[in-house]
Amino acid sequence: MTAPSLEPSPDIILTRMRPADVPALAAMHRRAFGGFFLAQLGEPFLREFYRGFLSDSSSITVVGRDGGADGALLGVAVGTLASESFYGRLLRRRWHRFAVAGARAAIRDPRVVGRLIQAVRFRGDTPPGLDAALFASMCVEPAAAGRGVGHLLANGWADEATRLGAERGYLTTDRDDNDAVNRFHARHGWHIESQYQTPQGRRMNRYVIELPRPGDTGPSIEVARE
Ligand SMILES: CC(C)(COP(=O)(O)OP(=O)(O)OC[C@H]1O[C@@H](n2cnc3c(N)ncnc32)[C@H](O)[C@@H]1OP(=O)(O)O)[C@@H](O)C(=O)NCCC(=O)NCCS
Repeated sequence: MTAPSLEPSPDIILTRMRPADVPALAAMHRRAFGGFFLAQLGEPFLREFYRGFLSDSSSITVVGRDGGADGALLGVAVGTLASESFYGRLLRRRWHRFAVAGARAAIRDPRVVGRLIQAVRFRGDTPPGLDAALFASMCVEPAAAGRGVGHLLANGWADEATRLGAERGYLTTDRDDNDAVNRFHARHGWHIESQYQTPQGRRMNRYVIELPRPGDTGPSIEVARE
């Protein structure tokens, strides 16, 4: 796999996620993912999802900003060092908030109930015995696509995971009709560890990356310490 060639704009900086970012990130997530999985559950649900990362000490969050520390949000990557316990803890601590957000989504569109059940049952698809940080989600503001934000976030997340002590990362993504995303991960140093099928019949690839990431995964900048 060749490394990404795109040189990102020098105006982009990376920081960790801040509480004030959450509403804009939820709206961005919905725009970026369209009808895909969590995005279907609506912005209130997505806000709880992102707040969950802010409220957990195992979280690994990286946000791209345009033009400086208080610039507009361009993208986000989130994950956790504690993949096996994170989602259970998230639900235990914030179940009432997810319940309200989920009920609002279900009243608006009863077809999302199946998605809701899937979301609350999700535990990270952690393979037994794999000690690795989970790269849970990443998206870029559609209006900012193609500027290199994705490259910086992918590499920034791996660097942040390394800094926080992870020796390996893993992520899962659809195997079918998802070539661009699969290529994207391969170009950032991830390789397929295994394949599996969800109870809903989705065929998935599970990728891992050894940390620190290889040096040939394209442009990167440091995540600013705040
Ligand atoms: C995937 C995604 C994060 C890429 O962000 P981006 O900022 O546009 O990416 P960059 O500008 O850094 O890099 C663009 C590269 O990604 C590839 N790319 C373009 N659209 C893509 C897409 N929809 N999915 C994956 N890769 C894509 C291009 O081939 C390009 O490669 P190049 O460097 O050789 O030109 C963004 O398209 C997105 O948020 N998609 C929706 C959410 C999603 O699918 N997230 C999971 C992916 S990890």
